[in-house]
Amino acid sequence: MQPVIEVQNLSKNFTIRYREDWRVYTYSKQAVRNVSFSVFPGEILAIVGESGSGKTTLGKMMVNLVRPSSGQILLNGQPVQRLSQRRFQPLRHLIQMVFQNPYASLNPMMTVREHLEEALRLADVTDPHAIEQEIQQLTQLVKLSPQVLTEYPDQLSGGECRRVNLARILARRPRILILDEPVASLDFAIKQIIVDLLLELHQKLGLTYIWISHDLEIVQAVAHRILVMFDGEILEEIPRDGSRRDGCGHPYTEILFTAAHRLHTWEQEDFSTLGAVLPQPTAGTTMASRERGCRFRSFCQRYRTIGRPKLCRETPPRFKTVSQNHLVRCHFPWIENPEVTPK
Ligand SMILES: Nc1ncnc2c1ncn2[C@@H]1O[C@H](COP(=O)(O)OP(=O)(O)OP(=O)(O)O)[C@@H](O)[C@H]1O
Ligand SMILES: [Mg+2]
Repeated sequence: MQPVIEVQNLSKNFTIRYREDWRVYTYSKQAVRNVSFSVFPGEILAIVGESGSGKTTLGKMMVNLVRPSSGQILLNGQPVQRLSQRRFQPLRHLIQMVFQNPYASLNPMMTVREHLEEALRLADVTDPHAIEQEIQQLTQLVKLSPQVLTEYPDQLSGGECRRVNLARILARRPRILILDEPVASLDFAIKQIIVDLLLELHQKLGLTYIWISHDLEIVQAVAHRILVMFDGEILEEIPRDGSRRDGCGHPYTEILFTAAHRLHTWEQEDFSTLGAVLPQPTAGTTMASRERGCRFRSFCQRYRTIGRPKLCRETPPRFKTVSQNHLVRCHFPWIENPEVTPK
């Protein structure tokens, strides 16, 4: 099957400028490091990782909002960055991003109806009758009450705001949606309702999703594949129902799973123990030492357990295929018996 998106060796360095004592200083921050993956039609591909791991930057590069420093993105086989604006135009509607902060995506001076009308005009729907019909269809599709159409963004609940954003984006008839934290900061019941709505739209409209999230519990339930990001790099690619069954996994994913489990059951536990599962860097680790070998090792319990092997200190790990479609970027991917030397 031909992928709808191919990301090849994608990296992004941000240059940060700051002023101190009348002098301007610059430094470079690498947000995404040499990332490669493919997305197939109809797939739900999840990207998880801690805050600042580069998930949103990766999403923005896919919709051409941030220019990559190196590497390329192919959309339906066409390299996006090399297309002129005119040739990119037909592809623009194909892939859309639903942004992390739903309120910031809306104009506080415009009603919901005005937002939808604007989105439809951008999709070349100009006839007033057709606009009215489309607005009705869109509100039904995202299960939004028609009364909301006259309201302004600050009058909307978190759930309604997400539905309005979805309706605006669906007005452009995309085939691929990048959902950046689509249910973050919603209460448990609304979270479930929005997840169900997204899954229903995925089925009904035959969409492809790239689902960016912190929430491993939800992602495990909805995604066909999960990419785990840390510090701009992909550390593991987990197939559906894969991961723990083959006894392999990246130590960072282990931490995320444990933290997610703890958060899920925190009511029965002492919440203060959560810190115990989050990574603590080894004392004395410098950025220079993290540039050599495995970038994760200073946080890695497995590295300490097996006696800080030279391999982890000096050689950056490559992806190992540990079972079908399950890739782990670790020299010692075995959970049960990490001492086993990799073949
Ligand atoms: N425009 C920018 N200029 C400078 N640095 C940036 C810019 N955008 C992102 N960054 C930096 O790049 C890194 C990755 O940011 P990004 O927003 O992609 O992370 P994230 O994984 O989406 O985090 P979160 O889960 O908190 O949303 C961070 O260190 C961030 O500060
Ligand atoms: Mg983000």
